[in-house]
Amino acid sequence: MDINRILGPDDRAGLSPEMFVVNHAAGEKLAPVVARLLAPVDIASFHYWDARREDKTELHYHDIDEYWAWTKGRTIVTIRLPDGRSGSFEVRPGMIVYCARGVEHGHTPLEDWACYEWAGVAGSGARSGHLYR
Ligand SMILES: [Fe+2]
Repeated sequence: MDINRILGPDDRAGLSPEMFVVNHAAGEKLAPVVARLLAPVDIASFHYWDARREDKTELHYHDIDEYWAWTKGRTIVTIRLPDGRSGSFEVRPGMIVYCARGVEHGHTPLEDWACYEWAGVAGSGARSGHLYR
């Protein structure tokens, strides 16, 4: 894992959009092929969102890894890989969305919702905020 490297279109080997959404409450675990992409966690980045159904997030990506650990409500998460393959998944409490850097993610809530969010350590030159393709 090189934290300065962003997932790109050539990184498709073994990856599929559903691998970035893990139902830990059902006993699923993160696939090793995704785990090896992720930078160490920036522990000071932990924060909590408690939001309304109207608060959706447009598809975007980051130069850092981002994590959503769902705790309340249901939402439809879309994941789009840099090679264009995408999928949409219903996310519920007990699930984590692993938004590896370079992987687009967004969600449309079905209910009021809440989640913990945190990020990975930024590589050198990482841009901040939401990025769009
Ligand atoms: Fe994000």
